[in-house]
Amino acid sequence: MEQVGLRALRAMDPETGHDLALKALNMGFGPKGGPVTSARLGTRIAGLDLPNPVGLAAGFDKNAVALEALAKTGFGFCEVGAATPRPQPGNPRPRLFRLSEDAAAINRLGFNNEGMEAIARRLACRTAGAIVGLNLGANRDSADRAEDFATVLRRCGPHVDFATVNVSSPNTEKLRDLQGKAALAGLLEGVTAVNESGVPIFLKIAPDLTNRELEDVAEVAGAAGVAAIIATNTTTGRDGLRSVHRGESGGLSGQPLFETSTRMLARLATLTELPLIGVGGVGSAEQAYAKIRAGASAVQLYTALVYGGISLAGRIARGLDALLVRDGFETVADAVGTGKRDWT
Ligand code: FNR
Repeated sequence: MEQVGLRALRAMDPETGHDLALKALNMGFGPKGGPVTSARLGTRIAGLDLPNPVGLAAGFDKNAVALEALAKTGFGFCEVGAATPRPQPGNPRPRLFRLSEDAAAINRLGFNNEGMEAIARRLACRTAGAIVGLNLGANRDSADRAEDFATVLRRCGPHVDFATVNVSSPNTEKLRDLQGKAALAGLLEGVTAVNESGVPIFLKIAPDLTNRELEDVAEVAGAAGVAAIIATNTTTGRDGLRSVHRGESGGLSGQPLFETSTRMLARLATLTELPLIGVGGVGSAEQAYAKIRAGASAVQLYTALVYGGISLAGRIARGLDALLVRDGFETVADAVGTGKRDWT
């Protein structure tokens, strides 16, 4: 049934297909068993008790319209957004491309979203239980991007379990400049100063940072009291692609991102004691496990869902459980970082 649905969705323009997939989820087409869990899979990150370490990455449910349904699909946690202070339409279409031959996607959406008011209202209505975070973004025409992050956190913080400072989207001009040492320190200081609800603040970084830049990020994040680092966002790199859309501008996600993002994750694990969340090209239990062994306490995914369907969340969590059993780990936390040397 899901395979038939996926084929139909893939025949459509990618953005229309995605909107329809969210509607179908809300209509009850999707797994309903709730988060997959076991004694091995349960884990604690930044004070949050996750039933399993497999999360939904930001950008899939930008406006928090399918929270209840997503919480039932098998994921251990979900990140919605990015939310900006004011609604904005994003870049002109077409701006999302499937690269089927590469099991990848390129997007240059540009933080299209309904704005923090609409999103906060939806977040406020959610029923307790599932762990939900919000990806914070800045308006394209904002005079003070750092202030935008603080504004969204102030409004939405009381309704989420964590918030992510996203300075790594390649689709908002100059946003990634905020990853520089001084700018990042100032931004994180501003955000933590308004964090009255005391939610853990995560920092999401790009896979295109140099070693030196990564060292700076690790140092600044540690000093600023960030609770976890999410590595990584999409890449501007285009190595080894075959699909016709490979020349489109924007951020590349999916399988071609797996190695780059996992190498960066493992490097980061040697630079910081902060918990890490590994994102980029996770499409199987083996790949989730590889990220965990490279140093991630949890993982997130998005693009593989386009090809594998939403039930992939549960399949990955169950497969991960089996891999932990196979290798004699009593908990997922015991496996974190045990394969770091394979990647550095
Ligand atoms: C994203 N991603 C993203 N990230 C973020 O921090 N804020 C956002 O608003 C978005 N929006 C977004 C839209 C689309 C269409 C895609 C494909 C991706 C990035 C996403 O969360 C993730 O970091 C990357 O896609 C890499 O993971 P996958 O897709 O390879 O599993």
